[in-house]
Amino acid sequence: MINATYWQKKRVFITGHTGMKGTWLSVWLSKLGAEVFGYSIDQPSNPSMHSLIYKQHYDGFYEGDVRDYNSLKKIIDHIRPDVIFHMAAQSLVRHSYLDPLYTYTTNVMGTVNVLEIARQYSSIAAVVCITSDKCYQNDGFDTKFKENDKLGGNDPYSSSKGCAELVVSAYNESYFRETNSPVIVSVRAGNVIGGGDWAEDRLIPDLFRAIDFGHPVIIRNPNSVRPWHHVLDCLSGYLALTQKIFVSGNEFAGAWNFGPTEDYNKPVSYIVDRVSNLWGDELKWETTPDRDNKEAQALSLDSSKAVKRLGWKPRLDLDDALKLTTNWYRGYKDGDDLLELTLHQIRNYEAI
Ligand SMILES: NC(=O)c1ccc[n+]([C@@H]2O[C@H](COP(=O)([O-])OP(=O)(O)OC[C@H]3O[C@@H](n4cnc5c(N)ncnc54)[C@H](O)[C@@H]3O)[C@@H](O)[C@H]2O)c1
Repeated sequence: MINATYWQKKRVFITGHTGMKGTWLSVWLSKLGAEVFGYSIDQPSNPSMHSLIYKQHYDGFYEGDVRDYNSLKKIIDHIRPDVIFHMAAQSLVRHSYLDPLYTYTTNVMGTVNVLEIARQYSSIAAVVCITSDKCYQNDGFDTKFKENDKLGGNDPYSSSKGCAELVVSAYNESYFRETNSPVIVSVRAGNVIGGGDWAEDRLIPDLFRAIDFGHPVIIRNPNSVRPWHHVLDCLSGYLALTQKIFVSGNEFAGAWNFGPTEDYNKPVSYIVDRVSNLWGDELKWETTPDRDNKEAQALSLDSSKAVKRLGWKPRLDLDDALKLTTNWYRGYKDGDDLLELTLHQIRNYEAI
């Protein structure tokens, strides 16, 4: 499905390259032969996968803010990318309650800035805007969302991603309909799991932090069902879509869901138990009710469009995804070479 011939020497610009997904994508694209450039405001966590893997200064990685149009434009002018993956975001629901202004300005105006700049370059083949499965209006029923379902979001993060979707759609309709203009897509995926995540208030990082510090992990919503998704399955969707754009252009513009199959939709408690079994006996957990939580209890995506039109499908079952994730954190704990471990997991994934 993912073919290096599409990526050799392609200049790929990733906003949010220091994030969890951005780091996996950087490593994978470099392996495929692309020239990778990045633009991020910070290391989003300490430790961060990016700084563990990229230990030396690299000229193509820039520090900058997607809210700053001039700074972003200067870098894009300089790089002249073939493809942009726009991932930079305030990506945490809980944090979005504390700082809605930063969340909206980054997630919405950051997207406006990227598209505003992209429309000045017909040399860009594709702009892939990473939003979220939370962009849909979720009334709490067990709906499988399709791409044309209503957008919404009850918390600032989800709503900012719904807004970013509206921005992508309006820019698409207004500026990117010419055959020689960049193809703009938005991609919606669910809760990603995989090694290298240390974000706050995400289940997998919370579990491995608890293991590290030797204290019980506090689980707020053990019964919430989420479409857990391995980061490589998610990124393979973004890459497969971009490859189609290289060949067929505008017919692939628009919104795309990349979600896991049904058997991935498991409650939080299942993930905790399984990781605990895979790790051994070091993980203890307690529950406390989360009165502040307004996240929907159930959320799932209908990815049949990607399956039919891209030939994409998740390749890992949930158990394999959890094993890969646990092995990565084991490698971290054992002091392994994390670039090599990450590449090893990518190579094995490509061979499935
Ligand atoms: N991880 C998930 O489970 C998940 C699920 C659905 C959607 N997403 C989306 O995927 C994308 C990547 O997620 P992630 O988990 O890698 O995120 P992350 O939190 O690990 O990293 C966020 C990245 O964005 C950068 N950033 C934040 N604010 C910025 C700003 N103002 N200017 C420039 N850079 C800024 C950070 O420096 C970092 O590189 C995000 O858009 C996120 O909303 C993630």
